[in-house]
Amino acid sequence: MLARFGFGEPGASVDVSTALAELQHQTYDLLVLPLQDVDALQLAAIERALRAGRLSFAIGTAPRAEPDLILRAMRSGIQEFLVYPPDPKDLATSIDRLMRRVSGNGQRGVVYTLYSSKGGVGTTSIAANLAHALAKGHKDSRVAIADLVVTDGDIRVFLNLKPAYDLGDLVKKLDRVDAELLYSLMTPYREGIWALPGPDNPELDDLLDGATISTIIEQLRSHFAFTVLDCEHHMSERTLAAMDLADRILLVTQLNVPALRSTQRSLAICRRLGYANDKMCVVVNRYQSGEVLSLSDATDVLKCDVFWKLPNDYRTAAGALMKGIPVAEFDSSSKLAWSYGQLAAKLAGVGEVARNGAHRAGVRSLRALLGMKKRV
Ligand SMILES: Nc1ncnc2c1ncn2[C@@H]1O[C@H](COP(=O)(O)OP(=O)(O)OP(=O)(O)O)[C@@H](O)[C@H]1O
Ligand SMILES: [Mg+2]
Repeated sequence: MLARFGFGEPGASVDVSTALAELQHQTYDLLVLPLQDVDALQLAAIERALRAGRLSFAIGTAPRAEPDLILRAMRSGIQEFLVYPPDPKDLATSIDRLMRRVSGNGQRGVVYTLYSSKGGVGTTSIAANLAHALAKGHKDSRVAIADLVVTDGDIRVFLNLKPAYDLGDLVKKLDRVDAELLYSLMTPYREGIWALPGPDNPELDDLLDGATISTIIEQLRSHFAFTVLDCEHHMSERTLAAMDLADRILLVTQLNVPALRSTQRSLAICRRLGYANDKMCVVVNRYQSGEVLSLSDATDVLKCDVFWKLPNDYRTAAGALMKGIPVAEFDSSSKLAWSYGQLAAKLAGVGEVARNGAHRAGVRSLRALLGMKKRV
């Protein structure tokens, strides 16, 4: 059950003092302890650990719900109480409350939306490898990767996933989604990455509208430190929602005329939507020196700097894809793996990310601009 909420493997201590000794030199997300065995001195130590952030949450248990015991625990900062042995449903409710406390504290995750109006330029490769690099660079954080492509989503191929559920299953239960449900419908990958593959059922196309996708993205944001979104190659309502809610939009391109032209058009739309300039990050994929078009040509055409360039390395990219593993696992010493790591570091290292409150109106006008039908 803890795994469903995204916790790692739990450890057990033989008694409370051993657990407290552990807390001296390691941080923990959750401590579950029998209150009847805890004395005042130990309770004070737990209170200090909670205050210092060495411990995020504590659940106290006892064979009976004795008001004095519960009051003492709560006064020491222990957030939840359960009668032992706890009913799994009660434990889930307590943990869900604790998780919501985190999101209620204003700890918002960061959302990166990957987009290119041209297919085949490497959008999914970058989404998958960026998620992996973010997870590697932030060992204590959870990273979500979601495929917003209805049918033909490739995330499951890139990460060799055999998912039990996908975005379509989440949509059907969206009215009652909480942390537990969210984690139970996502597919755990390695290194703290959780994947939400796109649905294969084309009938879900209508159901997955902008409002639904927005709700899903906000759910992901409140439960993951980083969320990476792989989008369709056109400005669907889904794509617009993903762009709207993104902290950064990675516009993937290559140094050739068709790709740059399509990026130019995407940038123009982003500007019309009123996004701040630093919300858009142009990423040149498959870069190699000596091409007809240079990076400065790209800067001239796009009228903005290139945020990052990833080297052309077909052998490594194709080899990783063939095995269904991230590039850094296929060949950690490759320039491409290094470059993905640096891209993740540059993105996550930028402190002040662009947040844009004014783009809702922009989305409406863009819908008109693109002649989109309004969904009722
Ligand atoms: N840096 C790179 N160097 C060489 N080849 C690359 C690089 N990045 C991606 N590729 C290759 O380019 C191809 C297309 O990549 P990918 O599927 O990620 O693009 P896409 O934009 O998501 O395409 P789609 O239109 O299918 O959504 C893949 O075969 C991939 O291995
Ligand atoms: Mg793709």
